[in-house]
Amino acid sequence: VTDPYLIVWTDESDRLRAAARHDGEWYRAVAASLARPGVRLAVDVGCGGAGMAIALAGALPAEARVMAIDGDDGVLAGAAANIDASGVPRGRIELQRFDLGSDLSGLRALIGEPVDVVWASAVVHHVGDQQTAVDGLARLLAPGGRLALAESGLRPHHLPWDVGIGEPGLELRLHAAEYRWFAGMRERLPGRVAMPYGWTEALGRAGLRDVTTRSALIETPAPLTGSDLDHVVVGFRRRVDRVGTAALLDDADRASWDRLLDPEDRDWLGHRTDLFTLDVRSVHVGTAPGAGSG
Ligand SMILES: C[S@@+](CC[C@H](N)C(=O)[O-])C[C@H]1O[C@@H](n2cnc3c(N)ncnc32)[C@H](O)[C@@H]1O
Repeated sequence: VTDPYLIVWTDESDRLRAAARHDGEWYRAVAASLARPGVRLAVDVGCGGAGMAIALAGALPAEARVMAIDGDDGVLAGAAANIDASGVPRGRIELQRFDLGSDLSGLRALIGEPVDVVWASAVVHHVGDQQTAVDGLARLLAPGGRLALAESGLRPHHLPWDVGIGEPGLELRLHAAEYRWFAGMRERLPGRVAMPYGWTEALGRAGLRDVTTRSALIETPAPLTGSDLDHVVVGFRRRVDRVGTAALLDDADRASWDRLLDPEDRDWLGHRTDLFTLDVRSVHVGTAPGAGSG
């Protein structure tokens, strides 16, 4: 029996590819804010479907280097396919495999020069010792370079409070189950160290200055249609299966979700016209001390 808290990243490759495409607008907006004049090298660490690497390649001048790094070969193959499909010229983005749980001086050597922008979205929380990973990422920076961590924010909401099946508040109880799953996932990471403080504090302890957070509201009002609706329904299926397998949902909620996620059921979510997306993404940024225009 597979451990329900263990993630096999290769199996997530298609999902990460789809997510990178779905979030293209958000990536372009964030990349534009990071692509200041003078940025010569930007690295997307834990790149998944390479959504940010693609956006950075579009936002930076052609002479700037862009790298996409991930720990999993299957994920990197998906990233390569996304890059090809994006129209970014082949070779514009350098893909490399590296495990962020190892000594990050190896990553410095792999990159070969100081970095102006390091982007790490939803990856540091998959590393056992998060502060050590943040410290290592900060050491990649050129003077004045920036480390941007996309972490936390708020979980997305898609459902009305009362969906007419089971007890109201179904989505909030899914969120609660997901927080418990997250804790179990972290408990199993090798070399786990607790980080009982926030991401801005972690950036400060890594020696970075001018640490701040910018959060973006991502909103698609009801009714969701087409690929937006599919994305949400497919996402719920995956999320409910994950916490369900870990026995973190009670029987009544599981039964409600089974009906809502069954395309043959008249209560299938795909039939509803009141689904929406309300999502808040946070990016925590710190700047390396010293001169430089990164
Ligand atoms: C939740 S996904 C995030 C992907 C992408 N950055 C995004 O925001 O959509 C985490 C990514 O980090 C990679 N990853 C997980 N643990 C890693 C590690 N120890 N070293 C390098 N990459 C890792 C996974 O393969 C996956 O692509």
